[in-house]
Amino acid sequence: MTTDLRWPTYPLRNTVLTEGVAEKAEPGRGSCYVRDTDGNVYLDAIGGIGCNPLGHGHPKFVAAMHEQLSRIAVAARSFWTEPQLALAAEIAKRSPIADARVFIGNTGTEVNEAAIKQVLRARPDRDVIIAMETAFHGRTLGSIALTANAKYRAPYVSCLGEPENRFARMNVARAPFGDLDAIGKLMVQYKGRVAAVWVEPIQGESGIYPATREFIVGLRELCNEHGALLAADEIQCGAGRVGTFAAWSTIVGDDPDLAPDVIWFAKALGGGLPVSACVSTAALADSMGRGTHGSTFGGNPFACAAGVATLSIMDEEDLLASAAAQLPTLQKIAGANPHPRVKEIRGLGSMIGIEINGEGDAPAAKISGLAQKHGMLVTVCAGKTVRLLLPYGAGESILAEAWRILGKALDEDVA
Ligand SMILES: Cc1ncc(COP(=O)(O)O)c(C=O)c1O
Repeated sequence: MTTDLRWPTYPLRNTVLTEGVAEKAEPGRGSCYVRDTDGNVYLDAIGGIGCNPLGHGHPKFVAAMHEQLSRIAVAARSFWTEPQLALAAEIAKRSPIADARVFIGNTGTEVNEAAIKQVLRARPDRDVIIAMETAFHGRTLGSIALTANAKYRAPYVSCLGEPENRFARMNVARAPFGDLDAIGKLMVQYKGRVAAVWVEPIQGESGIYPATREFIVGLRELCNEHGALLAADEIQCGAGRVGTFAAWSTIVGDDPDLAPDVIWFAKALGGGLPVSACVSTAALADSMGRGTHGSTFGGNPFACAAGVATLSIMDEEDLLASAAAQLPTLQKIAGANPHPRVKEIRGLGSMIGIEINGEGDAPAAKISGLAQKHGMLVTVCAGKTVRLLLPYGAGESILAEAWRILGKALDEDVA
């Protein structure tokens, strides 16, 4: 093994992944399996943490990438390119916001930051954003201010504000996810100061918790009443993951009066390439004048062609319908063959959390290692919830295999 010259920012698995396993894919489709340098084959339920909706090496996706790469891969943002215009149009068409305008970026946190800048520009005399106590919005400084986990924020808090300590332009007040009363109280406490409320329609990192329709509609009403904007982070739950382009549409429906003011997507949007998009109303987009935001690589023609190809393959293969079917299918499989360590299977569509019971506050701590040993890659959220983020086309046989492998891992954990 050569010396590892990377920063030690990730708890490392001693595994080098090399390729998708084409021979385990249906003809003409991407693969749900991945191989490592030792020749081990895994069912990949991580998929770059939710970035692999089509499966590895989808032939049409690969062909679209070759085609775009042979034409043009980069262009300065001051020029239009066909893939960028096409991707913006596709995203606008699928978003719950009626008069949508789109900023295309690379990563999740980048479009979260774009949304922060936008709400602060649109509400210039307001300085508070309300975020949820168990939220995750990214790791750059603006996003980390909205992320709940104090361990991520700790060394930087002096750059970030809390509402009682008003030196910062953005101060963050927190409320429990789902608690409309608490958010209503914060609106009153910081009367005239709340620029926006930040919400993940399905919380991911905290353990896969979908918001109820009542909660989101209540947030919309509170924001309307207090002149605040409603901002939805769909980095993990969006781009088709739950069976509609925006998870918002599954949870709330498509009533334009209930739509968020700004919503953003990443992860699955690029079919594996870094593509993200912040989508807002035209009125909000107008608050971002020329030069107020930018990104050298964001919206480059190669990445945008990846987004366009991803969305068109999702349409052609009806992948949103198969994504929507994953949770009920797994619940059926688990119902027929339950495991005593599984407390709950929850989520929406292909964003699935399997909560594990057991001693202490991290009963699933060893499950990702054990599952890997038995042939499946998974992550564990908040120490107790095994997360499945499979390709959207993964059907009953793949889910049955995931359940079987998880069962083996859990049996071994008990022993
Ligand atoms: C809900 C949510 N917001 C923001 C992010 C940050 O995205 P990125 O890692 O692409 O910056 C993530 C990543 O997991 C996420 O799940």
